[in-house]
Amino acid sequence: ANLFQFFDAGFGYDKSACEISSSSSKILIKGGTVVNDHREEVADVYVEDGIIVAVEPNIKVADDVTVLDATGKFVMPVEMNDKDYGGIDPHTHLAAEFMSAESVDDFFSGQAAALAGGTTMHIDFVKPVNGSLTAGFKVYEKKAKKSCMDYGFHMVITKWNEVVSNEMEIMVKRKVVFCIVSKSGINSFKFFLAYKGAQMVNDELLLEGFKKCKSLGVLAMVHAENGDAVYEGQKRMIELGITGPEGHALSRPPLLEGEATSRAIHLAGFVNTPLYVVHVMSIDAVEEIARARKTEITSHFQAAGQRVIGEPIAAGLALDDSRIWDPDFITAAKQEPTLLSFFFVSVFVLFLTLWIRSDGIKLFKHYDLSYFRYVMSPPIRASGHDKALQAALSTGILQLVGTDHCSFNSTQKALGIDDFRKIPNGVNGIEERMHLVWDIMVESGQISVTDYVRITSTECARIFKIYPRKGAILPGSDADIIILNPNSSVEITAKSHHFRSDTNVYEGRRGKGKVEVTIAGGRIVWENDELKVAPGSGKYVEMQPFSYLFNGIDKLDAKYLSSLKAPVKRIKSA
Ligand code: URP
Ligand code: ZN
Ligand code: ZN
Ligand code: ZN
Repeated sequence: ANLFQFFDAGFGYDKSACEISSSSSKILIKGGTVVNDHREEVADVYVEDGIIVAVEPNIKVADDVTVLDATGKFVMPVEMNDKDYGGIDPHTHLAAEFMSAESVDDFFSGQAAALAGGTTMHIDFVKPVNGSLTAGFKVYEKKAKKSCMDYGFHMVITKWNEVVSNEMEIMVKRKVVFCIVSKSGINSFKFFLAYKGAQMVNDELLLEGFKKCKSLGVLAMVHAENGDAVYEGQKRMIELGITGPEGHALSRPPLLEGEATSRAIHLAGFVNTPLYVVHVMSIDAVEEIARARKTEITSHFQAAGQRVIGEPIAAGLALDDSRIWDPDFITAAKQEPTLLSFFFVSVFVLFLTLWIRSDGIKLFKHYDLSYFRYVMSPPIRASGHDKALQAALSTGILQLVGTDHCSFNSTQKALGIDDFRKIPNGVNGIEERMHLVWDIMVESGQISVTDYVRITSTECARIFKIYPRKGAILPGSDADIIILNPNSSVEITAKSHHFRSDTNVYEGRRGKGKVEVTIAGGRIVWENDELKVAPGSGKYVEMQPFSYLFNGIDKLDAKYLSSLKAPVKRIKSA
């Protein structure tokens, strides 16, 4: 958290940091186990000017080279002649305007924290401005100017008309209008099936969106919860007098996630377009994804397993809902008010409001706001769902891990002090993901080290087509490398984390697997628990349409059309 001084200085960022970070252009990583998604080997890695020059044993170098000893540690992911990345987080919300608040981590503080945790690229969600995608893109371009690591964008779709449909094309393909090259490079669009009255879309829009995604070769993503039913569930809780954060979880149970996941999968199957389900949080959703992926002969026209990608997030794998259930939470039980108690409560609320406004809430012990930090959607589930998500990840039902990093501080979370519906939804994870996945999945023996590289990096690169283009031989790879010490332990605390929020959902958690060094673009940005990052050094990564998920989709379409020929003939001859 010593970076706070830098953050608080805002744009007057200490310039000397830029100089520090541009040193060390020649790096030798000695004696580590070099891991990528398909093999591991003990070797040295030599990096020059941001490019990996050699991966082989016993590399000899001159004196001006910075040498990092990685003996007994994992160096990942690295590969020759490839454009590879350290960890890639497919799901973040930096500086996101959401539920009357703006998430506290921007494109600098969030990315700095990511680098401290071994993530060297992330993909954030662009929110349209009044439905306009181009306006939304402009806003995010500006937000991302202070980036200190590489990033890409997904785009959210909130309304539908001809303009939005055309804008989707512009977002995907480069176009030259009056000598100006339009911005592009988006190959995924997200549809919210929840947040009624805000981002939520109906099935009609979803179908239009899916069709458009398919025609452009871009991936449709869904936040899968039934928003109408959630709205009903929320009313039910408020009527029962349950206004605390437990009402959040109770109002949107797993079956509503299962329903929406199933609906999105069926509609994507009907359109025959690949689908990506973000933040899978429950057994109910896992079961729907498993069923769709393994389908062999079904009533749908799909003959092969459906192309459905499932993304659990770090919080879903690591946490359960036990922390949301504060036994002392006074608003959980409805009490019959007397006139006197009404008076005292009014005075109490007045003081509390003043206190919140003056930021004194942190000192206010009686109202335990620590439970608010866990509020996200879909909710963190009861114990058992976490284990099921881990199992689904290890068996391949789920393919990659995100974080949904959308951090709010206590003052912002307190917006919902008397109504859980107003608590800004979101948890942290961008800094902890690489460590947590290591500790939960590798340290426990559930997955191999090569699987670890696949689910934290390589699979994300394949899905969003930033993995090297088929057949292309590049002169060298981008050197985004981490050194992870499997024996070094980590304790997560708000005191020591590098992002801005004053709380951490993993507070006090201890585990194995520490990212000791992060190299981004050939520069050492994290070493000896010290960050050396500079705003403006991150690059926008354009992502091309038609990833491997679209391979063969046309053949399935042809098969479907030919299956329709028989009835068409019958109707015509009648
Ligand atoms: O609670 C959450 N997940 N906040 C971020 C927005 C979203 O739904 O992904
Ligand atoms: Zn590679
Ligand atoms: Zn969501
Ligand atoms: Zn999200």
